Amino acid sequence: MEIRLQNLTKIFTDKAGKETRAVDDLTVTIGSGKLIGLLGPSGCGKSTTLFMIAGLFKPSGGKIFFGDDDVTKLAAEKRGIGLVFQNYALYPHMTVRQNIMFPLENINIKRTEALELVQEMANLVDIGELLDRKPAQLSGGQQQRVAIARALVKKPRVLLLDEPLSNLDARLRLQTREEIKRIQRETGITTIFVTHDQEEAMSISDEMVVLNFGVQQQMDHPQEIYNNPNNLFVAKFLGNPPINILNGHVKNGKIYSDADILLGEKDVPDGEYTIGIRPEDFKADPEGLEINTIDLDHIGRDTLIRFELSGVQIRALVDSDSVQGHETIRLKAKSKKIYLFDAETGDVVQ
Ligand SMILES: Nc1ncnc2c1ncn2[C@@H]1O[C@H](COP(=O)(O)OP(=O)(O)OP(=O)(O)O)[C@@H](O)[C@H]1O
Ligand SMILES: [Mg+2]
Repeated sequence: MEIRLQNLTKIFTDKAGKETRAVDDLTVTIGSGKLIGLLGPSGCGKSTTLFMIAGLFKPSGGKIFFGDDDVTKLAAEKRGIGLVFQNYALYPHMTVRQNIMFPLENINIKRTEALELVQEMANLVDIGELLDRKPAQLSGGQQQRVAIARALVKKPRVLLLDEPLSNLDARLRLQTREEIKRIQRETGITTIFVTHDQEEAMSISDEMVVLNFGVQQQMDHPQEIYNNPNNLFVAKFLGNPPINILNGHVKNGKIYSDADILLGEKDVPDGEYTIGIRPEDFKADPEGLEINTIDLDHIGRDTLIRFELSGVQIRALVDSDSVQGHETIRLKAKSKKIYLFDAETGDVVQ
């Protein structure tokens, strides 16, 4: 089922009357059966957006549609939503079976049917053998899968996941996110996955919405956003190691750093720009800049080089073979991959 947010806004007002625009005029269409990542730094309004979709927060403005239905004023329990939070919040005194069955308590369904549904969901999330255990006897990843089974048992129309992996260690995070992807594919349920971890969002999402201060920055396929960021914020938020940022200017189609070092060429009007170059967009080149290496870190196939350029520390990630054994290193930025941003607004300049 398609989800449509139309000018969705949430303003919190504290006791002193001070307003926080937690979500600001958000308009997004989420295709039926898609897995969408909602990404942004802490406090940017991800949870608030999710809670409005779930019906737990009342919007200050705008509308929410599920398919053709306007659900903006519909009670949470009537929306057909499955929710999973960061802290899985299982009932510790109940078995896994009882936990998953819990949402079925209040609906009219035969016990044998309920037990079958529980088994089906447990199999789906691959904990079919663990139904008689208590949550404390499970690993974090297994507990999170119980939470997902519980969210799915009523066959919701929408699955909302709020940082579901952040309590897990690195290895389990990776494994569980692949599991979530598989479960989402198998069920085909429209899913919104909230995270502040750009790598996680990039790997799991069909499409990604990037938020900052409650305002949508960009929505697209993860790779498309990575390759063509709308603005400086998005460019800086995606990528590890992060994009290098320098002040500079363009004159006659040539891009110079602050200290007048020629970096590349781009056909844009003369003027001041903020320059962005991703670490992997440098390459060793005999005609490139001779750099003052601060340090070199061979990480297998790639070598991470730190050096200084115009008073700024830069990271370059290059093919190890291209620099190993060389006394002096010369680097060039791939011209097509130099991003220029308006020095004032931060908007990308094509
Ligand atoms: N109940 C509330 N009352 C007042 N302000 C709130 C309330 N809930 C959230 N806020 C504010 O709204 C903004 C967005 O909060 P939200 O919880 O949606 O952020 P988030 O993106 O989920 O952050 P995180 O990654 O830390 O979970 C923040 O500035 C927060 O302080
Ligand atoms: Mg949150």
